Amino acid sequence: MENVVINGNSIDEMNKMPEGSVDLIFADPPYWMRTEGVLHRVEGTEFDGCDDEWDQFDTLEDYETFSRKWLTACYRVLKPNGSIWVIGGMQCIYTIGGIMQDIGYWFINDVIWHKKNPTPNFMGTRLNNSHETLIWATKSKNSKYTFNYKTGKELNSDTVSEDEYSKGVRKQMGSVWRMAVCAGNERLKDDEGNKLHSTQKPEEMLYRIIAISSKIGDTVLDPFGGTMTTGAMAKKLGRKYIMIECEKKYCEYGKKRLAEIDFEDSDIARAKYDEKPIKVSVQEMIEKGYFFVGESLCFKDGKEVAKLEKNGKLLWNGQIIDMHSCAALARGVKAKRLNGFDYWYVIREGKPKSISEIREDYRASI
Ligand SMILES: C[S@@+](CC[C@H](N)C(=O)[O-])C[C@H]1O[C@@H](n2cnc3c(N)ncnc32)[C@H](O)[C@@H]1O
Repeated sequence: MENVVINGNSIDEMNKMPEGSVDLIFADPPYWMRTEGVLHRVEGTEFDGCDDEWDQFDTLEDYETFSRKWLTACYRVLKPNGSIWVIGGMQCIYTIGGIMQDIGYWFINDVIWHKKNPTPNFMGTRLNNSHETLIWATKSKNSKYTFNYKTGKELNSDTVSEDEYSKGVRKQMGSVWRMAVCAGNERLKDDEGNKLHSTQKPEEMLYRIIAISSKIGDTVLDPFGGTMTTGAMAKKLGRKYIMIECEKKYCEYGKKRLAEIDFEDSDIARAKYDEKPIKVSVQEMIEKGYFFVGESLCFKDGKEVAKLEKNGKLLWNGQIIDMHSCAALARGVKAKRLNGFDYWYVIREGKPKSISEIREDYRASI
């Protein structure tokens, strides 16, 4: 099953799916907002918040029972090395988090979505509720889940300014994400031009989640599809999607949205930044003629000469040692090893050439 929008109850639909069949789950469940009456903005107009029928529960017990059922169904369909993201506000995230731990999920991170444009607290009766929480979890402590760490660095605009980013500064992604609430042209409208859905999530959030925690070709499941933001971003990033949504209207609009999205091939989609370079040994490069037995290795300034041995080790000061320990000894640092590829040079065409550059030449040739 792939690239489908299923109009149905997510618990029933997930229970029909094969066990261990999805790589990534994003779930934006009913929050049980418990809003009462009509909220008014300061200037008197009505605020169109989330008071939808699908968000109504009678008691905490009902909400817990529902949450336990869908989280258990997600646990079953998730692959052992897959992962799940669940978003919620203060109304529900503590209940959901507790149930997740009961079921056996292992938490990787909780992420704060710090809203750039939160809904104000119109009455001024409490703090402006300007964040939601995402829980990122696996099925067990030992799950080998996908985390495209370097892709995350490329996408990190939270702790790197635009100016720094343009100069090539990259920092590891943190657990506070500054993003705007979905608004403007991104917000889907119904045929009457009204907001289609009360809780449509920003594309930027789903793009980031899918890019850092799945691989191209993976299957992404969303049991509470809504406007199909997850499916849209999965398709854009070259992943497959399974979207479940109980409201027919959202399924219809969502299918149209999905039809208009194309795969956009990119280094982010392919997690190119996280590709591991091919492992090669010095000995192998000697055999292929990239280095020569007995040739001199020096530092960039030409000092500290060592001789290359047949087995890839170095003869230095009468001892034969690996090039990393030798670099540390020759430079007189406290560390036992330095990355020799960052320090050693050989002479090519009369000039020092980094052995790291030579290794890249060799990698490119294979
Ligand atoms: C918080 S919204 C998700 C919004 C979505 N992330 C988006 O960006 O548009 C939750 C959605 O789940 C749907 N829903 C609620 N209970 C459901 C159930 N038991 N099975 C399937 N869908 C359900 C609701 O109709 C609603 O559209």
